[in-house]
Amino acid sequence: MRILWGPAYELGILVIDQQHKRIVDYINELDRLADQPDAQLGVARVLYDLVDYTESHFSFEEALMERAGYGELDDHHHKHRQFTFHIESLLRRHEQGDTVTDELLRLLEGWLLHHILEEDGAYADEVRDFINSIGRERLGGWVNETVRKHFRVM
Ligand SMILES: [Fe+2]
Repeated sequence: MRILWGPAYELGILVIDQQHKRIVDYINELDRLADQPDAQLGVARVLYDLVDYTESHFSFEEALMERAGYGELDDHHHKHRQFTFHIESLLRRHEQGDTVTDELLRLLEGWLLHHILEEDGAYADEVRDFINSIGRERLGGWVNETVRKHFRVM
């Protein structure tokens, strides 16, 4: 296991932390695949999952930021788009026969340390305050409904 998920990576917003943990799962899966003979197949699966996951997670995260009235949403959305483009370009290169495992690992680790901890960390206080102000119970229904809307599988 390359990275052990723990409190150091949590923003204190349970539904978001559960989604972010998936990035660590993908990192560990890629690390496990690195010296396997059929790595290319596994890497393809991770890339396809990532395309699906990022689309679902980003739209959920952005819906939550919007609901909380977070002011930097446009800028944050732009960062999500850039990451999505990067994943899609790695997928295309993989499909053309390139080995992109190391590059993908570096991208995901950089995303965990820079985007999740810093850029997502920047909205965490405001979103947590919002959740506390309206009450977890009242937000619960919205969260469940929005997760269902954005995620095909959770
Ligand atoms: Fe984000």
